[in-house]
Amino acid sequence: MNSITLLQPEKIVFGENMINELGNDAILEGSKRILFLVATPILKAVEAAVKSLQDKNKEVNLVEYKFVGEPTFAQFNQLLNEHQAFNPDCVIGVGGGSVLDCAKLLAALINSTQKLEDVVGIGFLKGRNIKLICVPTTSGTGSEVSPNAILLNEDTQAKSGIISPFLVPDACYLDPVLTVSLPPKLTAETGIDALSHCIEAYTNKFAHPLVDTYALKGIQLISENLLKAYKNGNDIEARSALLVGSMYGGLCLGPVNTSAVHALSYGLGGKFHIAHGLSNAILMPEVLRFNLSANPKRHAEIARALGITWNGSDENIAALGIEKIEALSEACGIPQKLSEIGITKEVLPELADIAMKVTRLLKNNPREVTRKDAINIYKKLL
Ligand SMILES: [Fe+2]
Repeated sequence: MNSITLLQPEKIVFGENMINELGNDAILEGSKRILFLVATPILKAVEAAVKSLQDKNKEVNLVEYKFVGEPTFAQFNQLLNEHQAFNPDCVIGVGGGSVLDCAKLLAALINSTQKLEDVVGIGFLKGRNIKLICVPTTSGTGSEVSPNAILLNEDTQAKSGIISPFLVPDACYLDPVLTVSLPPKLTAETGIDALSHCIEAYTNKFAHPLVDTYALKGIQLISENLLKAYKNGNDIEARSALLVGSMYGGLCLGPVNTSAVHALSYGLGGKFHIAHGLSNAILMPEVLRFNLSANPKRHAEIARALGITWNGSDENIAALGIEKIEALSEACGIPQKLSEIGITKEVLPELADIAMKVTRLLKNNPREVTRKDAINIYKKLL
């Protein structure tokens, strides 16, 4: 068995309305100045937590996160500059993946000699001196437990990963109540993204028993509950299952990570600003069909976690699993073709060129993906 290191927050809190308990967290005991970065729709929901921190004589700088889409280097640096003077000893991020990624990077860089540009890539961050708590309000990125943060480099239009053990939060709060107001479209797209984290970890060339169980449980929880939450956002049991499933996906990201679905998705996000979950949702079935022959057994196990009970060859079971993912995605109103989101055949070579550069993920794919393979996968989706 390969060596592997699984990093995770020292505390993972799950429960309805647990955001209101945040102020009592022992992790915050020594903190005096707290930077609270909060997505606009959630501002009201953090009022009680802010008040309980203020009641404990902590200074809270409540910052509304207003950026739309993938945050750029310039936007992040603007946040950093604006709040440097506050000199927080703790950052709390409450929001979707972009908010959490910015909160993670703020905690790492706000009183550091390193600049953002110094730490892009794997393992360049030298440390983090202040506390960090993440509270997700979507069930998608798993950023609340992962060592990853993704920003958009506006000069190159490329999504850039900052990956470091110091970006794993000290604590995360999984409060499903915070996710009920997420609109159906975003619920669907972020949910399929979380599903893809679990699937890409399980079929990964470097898949590992240390996180395999998380991946399979994540697949089961998300596939059983995504449509329920899409149809009825107030279904708190479905929302809870998605949030836990998404966290399982996040736990897989550090030690194993994703592969070709995410790599082929890079250009769609960076160049064409297609939402991350949406591009992954469109690509995943076709990439799985491409990968299936490299490891039919693992693809069949995924199908079983998706609820396929049919007894047949691994290849056939796996194929049924892929059809089930397509059916789920379609039932959630997600377009199934790149052509439906404005992608034409003229841009496919460029998309493939961008994907080929994402070697940190492509190396994980169970089957080698050449530039020609990438173009063929895109073509099937026109
Ligand atoms: Fe993702």
